[in-house]
Amino acid sequence: MIDFQKCLVQLTDKGWFHQKNAFSQDFVKDIKQAIIERNLVKAGIGQSKVVHSDIRNDSIFWIEPEDPSSAIQKYLHFLKKLQVNLNQSLFLGIQNFEVHLAQYQKGGFYKPHYDNFQGKNNRVVTIITYLNENWNQEDGGLLRLHHQGEIVDIQPEAGSLAMFISEDILHEVSESYKTRQSITGWFLRQN
Ligand code: OGA
Ligand code: NI
Repeated sequence: MIDFQKCLVQLTDKGWFHQKNAFSQDFVKDIKQAIIERNLVKAGIGQSKVVHSDIRNDSIFWIEPEDPSSAIQKYLHFLKKLQVNLNQSLFLGIQNFEVHLAQYQKGGFYKPHYDNFQGKNNRVVTIITYLNENWNQEDGGLLRLHHQGEIVDIQPEAGSLAMFISEDILHEVSESYKTRQSITGWFLRQN
């Protein structure tokens, strides 16, 4: 589980939060199994969801509330609790969330972007849990955050979690030299 106090302090002070071992390796295995069983499709960009493989080339699967995987249900429950906590503590006015499974193949990347560029959509907080066992420096696939002249590189290690304020943090995924998997979600407010 996550250190919620630290999460609040860091989101407020820096706009991002990272915690290793937020989820168990058993949980990671179960979500990875769900990825195998689902049919992921090439991800698009913006409202129109047009595929731009020069900007991002991952594949995704949007999770429905009634997904049959118990690990996914556990994750949805975790997000619901976190939504309540964030609203009570930071008054973010989150009303909902959306979440997808994501997979980058070898050679995968996502160029620098904002998940919510100047309020153009309703994403408030981005939350990513990584599913990659035995990830090494030379495997690439880093989440790179850019904020106030600072660059932070996060390894997509199994069970680790990254969170950031969607409209404040420019970020990218550096080229991955191995298959790289995650479960990625956004807390939403009404536009
Ligand atoms: C995204 C994104 C980062 C990551 O899906 O918008 O930036 O580390 N993902 O997978
Ligand atoms: Ni992003």
